[in-house]
Amino acid sequence: MKLSFSSRVVGAEIHCDIGSDVAVSAPIFCFSLMAAPRVISGGTLVNRFAGFAEVALPDIAAGAVHKVVLAYDNREYRPRNRLWLPQGAYLKMGKTCLPLPPGTAQGVLPAEPPLAQPLPGGTLPLVPRPQNWSPSKGTLQFFAVSSLDQRLDAVNDLAQRAHFAPFRDDSGTPLTILEDPDLTSEAYRLEVTTTGLTIAANGPAGVHYAAITLLTLRETMGGQIPCGTISDSPRFGYRGQHLDCARHFFSVDTILRLFDLMALLKLNRFHWHVADDEAFRLEVSCAPALWQKTAFRGEGCLVPGVFGGGIRSGGTYSKADVATILARAAALQIEVLPEIEIPAHSFAMIKAVPGLRDPGDNGEERSVQGYLDNIVNPAMPATWALLEPLMLEVAGLFPMGTLHLGCDEAPHGAWSGSPAVAELKRAEDLDTSDDVQGWMMARLAATLVANDIRPAAWEEAAKGKNGGIGNGALLFSWTGQGPGVEAARRGYDVVMCPAQNAYFDLAYTADPNDWGAAWAGHLPLEKTVAWDPVPAGAEDIAPRVAGVQGCLWGEVVTEDWQMEALLAPRILGTATKAWESAGATSGSVLRSLAAAYGPVLDQMAWRRHKGA
Ligand code: ACM
Repeated sequence: MKLSFSSRVVGAEIHCDIGSDVAVSAPIFCFSLMAAPRVISGGTLVNRFAGFAEVALPDIAAGAVHKVVLAYDNREYRPRNRLWLPQGAYLKMGKTCLPLPPGTAQGVLPAEPPLAQPLPGGTLPLVPRPQNWSPSKGTLQFFAVSSLDQRLDAVNDLAQRAHFAPFRDDSGTPLTILEDPDLTSEAYRLEVTTTGLTIAANGPAGVHYAAITLLTLRETMGGQIPCGTISDSPRFGYRGQHLDCARHFFSVDTILRLFDLMALLKLNRFHWHVADDEAFRLEVSCAPALWQKTAFRGEGCLVPGVFGGGIRSGGTYSKADVATILARAAALQIEVLPEIEIPAHSFAMIKAVPGLRDPGDNGEERSVQGYLDNIVNPAMPATWALLEPLMLEVAGLFPMGTLHLGCDEAPHGAWSGSPAVAELKRAEDLDTSDDVQGWMMARLAATLVANDIRPAAWEEAAKGKNGGIGNGALLFSWTGQGPGVEAARRGYDVVMCPAQNAYFDLAYTADPNDWGAAWAGHLPLEKTVAWDPVPAGAEDIAPRVAGVQGCLWGEVVTEDWQMEALLAPRILGTATKAWESAGATSGSVLRSLAAAYGPVLDQMAWRRHKGA
């Protein structure tokens, strides 16, 4: 049996053609959109769950093509680009499910690159650019270092994995490594002469970053490295990349590949989003039901095939996987920050573990993604019985000693229909949902602190009349920088990841052939550096800004490889903002640097968006 499928945008509508080479009786057309769909013609909507839908079709005769016309239920939503067409589509006939072909090309497509200007004279093709570069005369013909220092092992291994030439070779350039106690732990000095190399650093991180600089310059300059001295150190200690592995289960190999790219750009924090409405993906001993029941979504699962999940997709990260990820991260100077995501975005958790909702709750809470009742209830004993051991077990798996609790996007009117929360409000003198959330987060955070774990959360955790989560939490400002500034002024340390500049699930452009979301606008490469982590007028918060992070949400990814061109080259902007001094690199220089990195990414077989 051969099925065909295609879909296209016609104004506000989505026109789908479904064909079969043999007769099909009463098929159900199953698919997901970015948000709830409606059917305009060609079938009857029989089931809908967030963006997932089942549409009953009439019989399709052998060789015939049946047309279904869809639209977004919210009349303000229009299909923006190919991502907004049906994803993960399949036909269900009785108990049999058969996948439909994707219908259109998937993921970010390469396009003609806009013309990059040559790099300004004296600019090293290196991202992030070093704080200081003093050229001298001459050029070093460099192909490898001659050094047995073990602190170079990780860079040599990275070179091999990235399909670069070996970084170390007995007949390479002699390298001297000096300890300089006056340098900070990530700082380094790299002196290049026509006959040798000297690295000065104060510990393994500095040596590692100096080696990364050398490796990168070899790749971007064809082994002709200008002589001189680089003196370098990062502006921020937190230089992160987030990856949503809940909406899409990325393989361990893909995560390790991402670590190589992060390491090349001197990014040092991996924010691992392993839980959301769709799944809890970490193997934990304290609550096996949580990951065992939610690992897969699709037919017969607790969560249907939302966000292109199709007939069945997913997976769990085992404890062995976590060990593999942590070992590679440590070698590359990356720390891993796990996120378990509560109280909202917890649909899967609520379905897997009984007792997390108030049975007397008669309110209706609809999340922005269209989930009903996806927030756990802090007045239920089962909530605490699950969360307290869960937090401690997850945090205990990760040496960073910080646990991200989530806390974004509580649905409007959360808990307003819950008699148990009404009682909790009376008992704890809480007025609003924000107060209840703040109280809950503070209680969880205090438990973490009592166990020597630092709490972290999205910006919303600062809400509530008790001051929110408190307890020295690290907050992530994502709707913009305003909430981060406000939180910093109230004493929180903050990581800046404003969606408008740092959310790589956003499409680069408004082109209907592009791929990605658009709720915070489009994000061309230049915009990734058109901001400052310490915004003008908020210089007072500088000591509270821990750093910068790029985020990549999985709603826009159905295959691992699609992540690559969403990240590259925009991840260069994250590295620039996180490491360099304010305003050091303009958008047009970043464009030129991205052009210089093109062959390096190609060598790594890392897809990139060329028409950003
Ligand atoms: C978020 O993007 N909801 C943190």
